[in-house]
Amino acid sequence: MELSLKQIKQDPRINAFIDQTDKYLKVLGYTDHCRRHLDIVSDRARMIASKIGLKKHAQETAAIAAWCHDMGNFLGRTQHHYWAAMLFSQCFINEANPEDVSTISQVIVSHDKDDLKIVDKVTACVIIADKSDVHRSRVKTKNIAEIKADIHDRVNYAVTDNKLQVDKQKKTITLSLKLDTKFTDMMDYFAIFVERMNYCQKAAAYLGYTFHLKINSTKLA
Ligand SMILES: [Fe+2]
Ligand SMILES: [Fe+2]
Repeated sequence: MELSLKQIKQDPRINAFIDQTDKYLKVLGYTDHCRRHLDIVSDRARMIASKIGLKKHAQETAAIAAWCHDMGNFLGRTQHHYWAAMLFSQCFINEANPEDVSTISQVIVSHDKDDLKIVDKVTACVIIADKSDVHRSRVKTKNIAEIKADIHDRVNYAVTDNKLQVDKQKKTITLSLKLDTKFTDMMDYFAIFVERMNYCQKAAAYLGYTFHLKINSTKLA
């Protein structure tokens, strides 16, 4: 059986893992790692794969891996990438092409900072899509005092616009953010996101591209 994102999104097992992750991370007070984040990462991973010229099958693989990458969080945050890969392969190893199941499991594991090994272009696309998702809509609480007290919430809440563009001619991938400095300052932003931007740079370099970051129209990298 050939896997498709459409089918994965309707799969009751995958939906149960995502629902459980949503419940678990809400209790821990984390930013969104569920359908909002998964939709964005999945669309972005497919967009990058398509713009850099990967084949349709690789684009679909990127979109599926991106949709499933955070679904293991309900079994523990630290190893969530392993759990997600294991859950994915448990579901599909007897139903789908074993090569596709292996590739997707590998991409899921490699999205996390502790195991960030880029072994193929699909992995690089998913890493950029995941690490570039910073936005106000990721913050779950509406309480401004709570938002200001937590650096992750503060930095995400400060980002009111987020665009990712791939230029195949210039070989650049550019993340443009609008930052509301009422909620955070550049130091906060860098304390949280320097690491993420390094991963994006590494992943873009693997694809033969350079990664640029623009904040409030100022080019920072
Ligand atoms: Fe993750
Ligand atoms: Fe993620």
